Amino acid sequence: MSSLNSHAKDLARFWKGRILWDSPMSQFSTFKVGGPAEAILTVSNTGELQSLIQWLKKYEIDWWIVGRGSNILVPDRGLAGVIIILEGEFRSIEKLPADPHTPQKEKVFIRAGGGCLLLKLVRYCTGQSLSGLEFANGIPGSIGGAIVMNAGAWGQEIGSLVDAVVLMDSNGNIFSEEGQNLGFIYRKWSMPKNTIVLSATLRLTPGNKDEIIALCRKYQELRRKNQPIAEASAGSFFKNPPADSAGRLIDQAGLKGFSIGGAKISEKHANFIVNTGKASATDILNLMQVVQQEVYKRFGIELEPEVHILEDK
Ligand code: EPU
Repeated sequence: MSSLNSHAKDLARFWKGRILWDSPMSQFSTFKVGGPAEAILTVSNTGELQSLIQWLKKYEIDWWIVGRGSNILVPDRGLAGVIIILEGEFRSIEKLPADPHTPQKEKVFIRAGGGCLLLKLVRYCTGQSLSGLEFANGIPGSIGGAIVMNAGAWGQEIGSLVDAVVLMDSNGNIFSEEGQNLGFIYRKWSMPKNTIVLSATLRLTPGNKDEIIALCRKYQELRRKNQPIAEASAGSFFKNPPADSAGRLIDQAGLKGFSIGGAKISEKHANFIVNTGKASATDILNLMQVVQQEVYKRFGIELEPEVHILEDK
């Protein structure tokens, strides 16, 4: 695979939409760090996306889909290739008509585009008195991002609600898959890298609107109490090791408040690295390594980042 380099002019001719050239990824990251991507494109529908993926394949140019940017870290040197942002039809939400033959008559099926914000979907479900997604209130990602990393909180995960998805592979082929075949495990699905979530149908349960609102509030309150939600971060930085908690281990290692440059281990929750204002991606990556080394020295446990570190391939 290669960078855009010699093909920038071809891309400008091929792509009819807007292109941001050499634009910093910090603007698309909740960490507010990250160097420039060679080109950033927004795509509005499946046909456009398919032709773009096929074009990138033809010229062997690397690409990354970025949703809300809430779980990514882009190095300061930037990315050689194309960043794709899904908007337009990829942000839609629709209620599917009830199927009289479905064995799950008590369920309601909602389809959302891969680029739709999870929070927008939570709000939609609340408005329709549909229960199931309350746990996700406060998770700041897109539907596609949430599915790729099987986002979860309070003992629940989005994977358990996924009825089916429409996907695109790295050749631009479109196919459907049932939720149960996506191999959801803790903070991960098992589809090949560079599989794009075009849309997902979630299985929800009709409920009582007041109770749904109350549950959403409760989860948001817990988040506000335990997590530094007002600061720039990517949520939990490390995955929890089996039967333990990354936050507890980092805390026990005495690292709360420890900082490198503008990157700091949150005083509120030790598994959050926060950008205190002027952090670089390098500060965050260096802090990540110190945490991994310290936790390994003290407890013999290797912490694995939950945050996806985007790097040149
Ligand atoms: N703890 C400490 N010190 C800390 C932080 C936590 O000792 O600084 C202890 C807590 O007292 C608790 C344990 O560690 O006994 C677990 O902490 P917490 O309840 O905050 O949950 P977590 O495992 O750190 C997970 C998810 C969060 C999710 C919460 C709530 C992971 C990596 N994180 O956090 O998800 O919101 O549960 O369900 O699985 C995210 O993925 O970005 C995220 C925020």
